[in-house]
Amino acid sequence: MLSEKCYHCHGPDSGTRQPKKAPLRLDIEEFAFENRENGKPVIIKGKPADSYLVELIHSDDPEVVMPPPESHHSMSAREIALIEKWIEQGAEYQQHWSFIKPEKLPVPLQSAVIASECHFIVLLVNAAVTEAANVDAAL
Ligand code: HEC
Repeated sequence: MLSEKCYHCHGPDSGTRQPKKAPLRLDIEEFAFENRENGKPVIIKGKPADSYLVELIHSDDPEVVMPPPESHHSMSAREIALIEKWIEQGAEYQQHWSFIKPEKLPVPLQSAVIASECHFIVLLVNAAVTEAANVDAAL
């Protein structure tokens, strides 16, 4: 749900990430719980009522509400309730991913990690082969 409604502006793409002066990422746990300019994270685990994020998704003010009206995304009462429930239960990222379509989020992240690991292994193998070739050449 966050991925569909929020990641365009608070997700992996730094080009569209908002707000421009202090971009907020909600797709990675580490950033989602970082202290913001006011010294507090936007999600306070276990405390939806104290979480700024919840305040924003509830807002009636079109200037403030998240997602912004011009994004043509909006949250249904049920979706808001699900987010609150999720925060109340500790805002577990793993568990949260199970709420959303699995192909949407972790996959690109995982494949990026896998790709970089593969790359590293290829480098190691190449280095070993080159070294072996050098040893051969020296004999
Ligand atoms: C179309 C882009 C866009 C989408 C989609 C969007 N946001 Fe935002 N978000 C912004 C912008 C722009 C700001 C900065 C608003 C400001 O400073 O007045 C912001 C600010 C925030 C902040 C406050 C950050 C801070 O530290 O001040 C939170 C929390 C937030 N958004 C949560 C969400 C959530 C949750 C969703 C999805 C339900 C969402 N946003 C969807 C553009 C977006």
